[in-house]
Formats: sequence, structure tokens, C-alpha cells
Amino acid sequence: MIPFNKPFLTGNERIYIEEVLKNGRFSGNNFFSKKCASWLEEHTRCSKAIVVPSGTAALEMMMILANIGPGDEVILPSFTFSSTANAVVLRGAAPVFADIRPDTMNIDEKRIEAAITSRTKAICPVYYAGAACDMEAIESLAKRHGLLVLPDAAQAIGSVCKGRPLCSYGQMAALSFHETKNLHCGEGGALLINDASFVERGEIVMEKGTDRSKFFRGEIDKYSWVDIGSSFLVNEITAAFLYAQLEQAEKIIERRVELWNCYYRELEPLEKEGKLRRPASVEGCTHNGHIFWILLNDAAARDRAIYALKEKGIGAVFHYVPLHDAPMGLRFSPRSLPTAAEYSARLLRLPLYAEMTPRETAQIAEALSEVLSS
Ligand SMILES: Cc1ncc(COP(=O)(O)O)c(C=O)c1O
Repeated sequence: MIPFNKPFLTGNERIYIEEVLKNGRFSGNNFFSKKCASWLEEHTRCSKAIVVPSGTAALEMMMILANIGPGDEVILPSFTFSSTANAVVLRGAAPVFADIRPDTMNIDEKRIEAAITSRTKAICPVYYAGAACDMEAIESLAKRHGLLVLPDAAQAIGSVCKGRPLCSYGQMAALSFHETKNLHCGEGGALLINDASFVERGEIVMEKGTDRSKFFRGEIDKYSWVDIGSSFLVNEITAAFLYAQLEQAEKIIERRVELWNCYYRELEPLEKEGKLRRPASVEGCTHNGHIFWILLNDAAARDRAIYALKEKGIGAVFHYVPLHDAPMGLRFSPRSLPTAAEYSARLLRLPLYAEMTPRETAQIAEALSEVLSS
């Protein structure tokens, strides 16, 4: 059986966790949390990184800091995880779903402007499979309309666009370190604050609405409740695990991209025969090999392929059911988004994890060829 995913371990997780057990300091903002934050700040060039318990928490914290509230609207793609929309809804605001591009499955930058109203506060692009959206178009649109750009970068650690880390676009970006992601700690995430004007409040919101960070730095003699906030810190055991992964980020991502490229090459003949479509590359940008997805010719062909590959011991899977016509999504601005509806039903993800071998990608490509020819 080739599973869809296998969380990778570098071997240092255990060693660093043992260090924590010896040190006896377990709460947030200690040695390994700080090391993870410094690593993220260096590698994503953000003003401040806050390591949080999940990508979901990072999105929720981002919406608090962006002052999203009742009556506001946030534009996001329909083809995303529920957490992107929940973060908006939890602030009492409304998600406004936009359609996607069929070549990258990312928000269609040409369809954003029509969704802007006087209530729109922000655009929340999602980097599906670690691939870039057209950030120049989105940023210039946001500037013209006075909107924030708040990317859901859950899948995008290590992606680069126009010579910049993809995570450095927007005022803030949310990362996930869930075990399905390239780098992980079981459950985890990070809020990257690119615009330094959000940093001071970020420190307060992550500390349950108190100015405890200033107190710890000796800048004030006692701390108190000064704003809304929550417990957005991670414990040291989680941070130690994550640091073991961050240290080897380059190697892990390189490996995934290598496997992604193997699939890309091996599936070219099937694309030429009109049996599937491979993802488009985004000019001037490199992705991080997070997901290898293909589009089959229709939903029935996709569902048949999932079943037939499973019979051959291969764990290929579908992905998001579009949010705009999910039961919860229908409560907000019901609209028809034909590309998200059609292409999500045709999308198939193939197994991809750092421990896989090029031989296995060849075996899977061969199995897919058989399945699509039968
Ligand atoms: C696009 C996107 N946003 C948000 C999340 C939520 O991240 P987490 O599972 O770490 O809460 C995920 C993770 O699955 C995701 O893929």
C-alpha cells in the first residue's frame, strides 16, 4: 500500500523534546518557541513570527489583528479549507466567495473586483498546493480599494515568488504545521506579521489580551488586561518538535519538489493523450512540492480513479468541497461559482511525502495510466 501521506520525522524531534524535559520549562515563549520564531523571521523575512497551536489559530489571530468585525466582508476563494472562512465568521463578519482559476485552483484575480463592496475589508488569497496567486494584481487591487491582503499561506512554507518568500506578501500571513504539511509538529501553525504596525498588538492578542510580553522584557513593572486576546502560544514540546523540522526545511522541500517533478514528467504522455491535466506553473514563482494534483476529464472519471487506485493499493484522494455551496457557506451570499464547482469535482491528489521514492511515483503513474485506459 502506498498511503497518500506519511508525516516525516527528521530524527531530532526526540532529542530536542528530551532537552525540554531536562530543562523543565514547558510553557510558551521559551527556548524552542523563540528559536522557531527566529527561524521563521529569517526565512520568510517577516517583522515578527508567532508560533501558534494551528493554522486555524493563525487565521483567527490574523482576523482579530486586522480588526475584522460585524458588518465587514472578506473576499476569499471558495476552493479552500473551512478554517479560512471560519476565521472571518468567528469575528461576526461575512466571507464573500470568489471563483478560482482552473490552472492553479487559486483565486481568480480577475473576479475579485466584482465582489468588492463598501463593506469589504480584506482579501484573503489561499496558496493552494504552495503555488502563488497573482499577488501583484491582488496587491494593486487592494491598494486601489484600501483593503488589507491577508493570505492563507497554510501550505506555502518555502515557496518563492519574484525573488521573495511567498509568505512575505500581504500585511500578515497564516502558516500551518499540521502533520499533513511539508513541515509539521502534529498540530501547529504560525502567524507571520509582515507589516510591523501589527506587531505590538500581536504580542498582546497572543498573550490573552495582556501586555505580559512587555513585562517579560522588563519594559513595565506589572502587566494587565489591555485588549481582547486568547491563548495563542504553543508549549515547548511542540516547539521543540517543530524546530527539528524547520532546521531541515530545505532538504525536505527539495525532496518533495524532486518527487513532484517526477510525477510531472511521468504524466506528460497522459496529458498529451487528453486523459488528464497537470497543474500550471506560475511565471516567476517556485512552489514547495506540497501537493501533486491533476484534473481528470469529469467528476465520474475522478471518482472511478480514486476507487481503482485504491484497489491497486494507492491512496489517491479528492480535496476541498467548495465552501460557497457547502451547508454553512450557503448562509452567506449564495452565488454560482462554476469553476470552483466543476474543477474541485475533477481534482485528484496523488501520494506525496518526503520518504517516497521516484520509483514509487513511476509505479503510481503507471497504475494511473492503466486505470485511465480501462
Ligand atoms: C488552506 C488551509 N487553510 C487552513 C488550514 C488549517 O490549518 P490547521 O489544520 O493547521 O489548523 C489548512 C490545513 O489543513 C489549509 O490547507
